[in-house]
Amino acid sequence: MNTLILNGKEPEHIKLAGELLSKGEIVGIPTETVYGLAADATDPEAVRKIFAAKGRPADNPLIVHIAALSQWAPLVQKIPEQAMRLAERFWPGPLTIILEKSDLIPMETSGGLSTVGVRFPAHPVAQAVIRAAGTPLAAPSANRSGRPSPTTFSHLRADMEGRAAALLDGGDCGVGVESTVVSLAGKRPRLLRPGGVTLSELESVLGEVDVDPAVLHRLQEGAVASSPGMKYRHYAPRAEVVLVDASPQEYANYVNREAEQSLGTYALCFEEDKPYLQCGSLSFGSRYDSAAQAHLLFFSLDRLDQLGARHVYAHMPAKRGIGLAVYNRLIRAAGFQIERPEKPVVVGLTGPSGAGKSTVGKMLQEAGWAVIDCDGLTKSPAVYDRDCIHALQTEFGEDIAPGGTLDRRLLASRALSSPGKKKRLEAIVFPHIMRALQGKMRDTIDAGYKVIVLDAPTLFEAGLDDQCDRILAVTAPWEQRLARVMQRDGLTRRQAEARFEAQHDEEFFRARADHMIRNEDQSALKAALDPILKEISDLTC
Ligand code: TXA
Ligand code: MG
Repeated sequence: MNTLILNGKEPEHIKLAGELLSKGEIVGIPTETVYGLAADATDPEAVRKIFAAKGRPADNPLIVHIAALSQWAPLVQKIPEQAMRLAERFWPGPLTIILEKSDLIPMETSGGLSTVGVRFPAHPVAQAVIRAAGTPLAAPSANRSGRPSPTTFSHLRADMEGRAAALLDGGDCGVGVESTVVSLAGKRPRLLRPGGVTLSELESVLGEVDVDPAVLHRLQEGAVASSPGMKYRHYAPRAEVVLVDASPQEYANYVNREAEQSLGTYALCFEEDKPYLQCGSLSFGSRYDSAAQAHLLFFSLDRLDQLGARHVYAHMPAKRGIGLAVYNRLIRAAGFQIERPEKPVVVGLTGPSGAGKSTVGKMLQEAGWAVIDCDGLTKSPAVYDRDCIHALQTEFGEDIAPGGTLDRRLLASRALSSPGKKKRLEAIVFPHIMRALQGKMRDTIDAGYKVIVLDAPTLFEAGLDDQCDRILAVTAPWEQRLARVMQRDGLTRRQAEARFEAQHDEEFFRARADHMIRNEDQSALKAALDPILKEISDLTC
């Protein structure tokens, strides 16, 4: 088939794409999530062409795209109030809402189901094409079935040239993973596929949302899939993909070892892993930037194919926010293969002053985990060994340690006299702190602990996050934190506030922690900790 290459910036080209679609042809179109392969959703013949072009199983339903709210009602039996509230909040955007379908939707489009998923995409070119076609468009992701979805025009061409009547260039897709799919066709709202609209965003409108087991786990043999697309191997490049669940340092150790054994090994890694990696690698964003990971994921999987990768070790993404969608796609690309180095789990425990970290630390200790007080460690004699004292004397004067015993007050008065001197102090002491910490961690491992908690207010500043498999951040309401700090440290309200202003805010921690723990009252705290304890303990098996 001869495929027309069209430009989404040309109104004439959009018109032409619309004409082809209204005549029953299939056209590749950009959306804000991924490229779609579109056809008239109400025309069974046209829809069949999509399944043929993709090599898609016929029981896997298609999403129907609209460009005006008024196009929705004719496609479904009725629009419940909850559905309307979702639409008002998130449309146009990366959300697909499943409801009972009307007769206008043929069985070809719904994959034989009585329901239909509808989405109002935000991409201006997608909207213009739907308007030009004059009909809602069924459009699955425009990949060959089982392969990563295309997020760039060149990937779309590579997969679909010769298989569609036209391909419309709209540049790179912003979100990078497919839409969130939520079903309102059952008794309770159910998340079938995570995507650009996050679970907590959905819950802010719907209240509690059930998460379909297929979002996080492999379907049991013989189980019926709520979302048929979830039962197939998916999103996979040609290379074998394995997910590695480990801290940046341990992840890199693991991949470096594997790369020595086999050619064509690549790390699909985070920025933070790079300093530790010694093999071919491709970063798909910062460990703490789930939106960047989503944006780059499919592009990176495609790129690994082009690089000729044979074994890909992908670093486990955090499951917060849109990260849940990244995780959901990656475990499918990996065929659910997850590896963990046989090491104790290292958990970072951090958060702003007065949040009650030590209360949480105590509870973790009671659960049988080792908790290392990193702040306390910085003052321990293990840090100030002979080498350290000698270096300090050279910098700040012999008399700061008469007879080898440190005069902390004198050292502080000299070292804190200027920012430059303070830097020097930190540069001298820091490596000794790290060495003391390594020693302490080794002792803890020798004592048989399977989980080690690094209790560290400045976890990120000290770079300790690179050693952590999971990060927990404790927060509490501002007023409560103020009261705690004023009482504990004997500060005035103004002094305590000044201290808070100089620290990271809650958002900083939210963006980085795997789990946020709100320490407001004791019983709620226990309830919040239980599932986290379980998740992390499971890693040790
Ligand atoms: O972002 C997106 O949603 C992209 C762009 C092109 O809009 N489209 C897309 O479509 O990802 P597709 O066909 O690749 O994925 C649709 C997913 C499949 O897993 C399918 O099984 C599920 O949604 N789905 C569609 N209709 C459904 C229904 N009525 N009931 C349950 N699952 C449904
Ligand atoms: Mg797809």
